[in-house]
Amino acid sequence: MSVIRQARLGDARAIGRIEVETWRTTYAGMLPDRVLLGMSEQRQAGSWASFLRHRPGDVYVAEAEGAGGRLLGFGNCGPQRDPAFAFAGEVYTLYVLPDAQGGGLGRQLLLALFARLLDGGHRSALVWVVRANPARFFYERLGGKLALQRPIPVGGRPIDAMGYGWTDLGAVLEREARSRARF
Ligand SMILES: CC(C)(COP(=O)(O)OP(=O)(O)OC[C@H]1O[C@@H](n2cnc3c(N)ncnc32)[C@H](O)[C@@H]1OP(=O)(O)O)[C@@H](O)C(=O)NCCC(=O)NCCS
Repeated sequence: MSVIRQARLGDARAIGRIEVETWRTTYAGMLPDRVLLGMSEQRQAGSWASFLRHRPGDVYVAEAEGAGGRLLGFGNCGPQRDPAFAFAGEVYTLYVLPDAQGGGLGRQLLLALFARLLDGGHRSALVWVVRANPARFFYERLGGKLALQRPIPVGGRPIDAMGYGWTDLGAVLEREARSRARF
């Protein structure tokens, strides 16, 4: 069993480690090797510590229950960053460790981020996903609609990305709660 909770400053190191591991397993062959090889857990941990200091509450983690409480995944959210797009909120990242994928943690984390956005007055949300990443089917499964497509520069190379949108986060949360109640 795992719990979903808001991240604490002390989680920054584990979050940085998960980020580097999942980037390398997910994006091999999709993003330039030198970007993946050049990642550093320590650097990522530093930038997560900074995010957590400035935006406590906008990062969620999935933690294995029991002694040790290993972190298995994380995600963060906030205001949508591009004024050209009508979505209010954005899910910036969502990563679950490879050995914990497929067990429902991604869904629980995404719904926690949606609830957080809604609490902050953001009724709609956008998430960007690399076109070649099968994670886009996960977003489709969770009701996301393909809304935008554009290349995003990564390591000096344009990478095709797709923006999935949800126009009514309240309806998504209600639908998911109803479907959980059936089981
Ligand atoms: C994408 C990711 C967050 C999904 O989390 P997860 O814990 O593996 O997914 P869940 O078990 O919660 O899946 C929820 C539903 O989506 C479906 N799903 C998940 N990944 C899928 C995929 N790649 N293709 C199709 N369906 C998928 C599941 O089958 C499940 O369906 P159900 O409603 O019938 O049960 C996770 O796999 C991951 O971290 N991947 C690598 C990193 C990544 O690409 N992150 C996204 C960056 S934008």
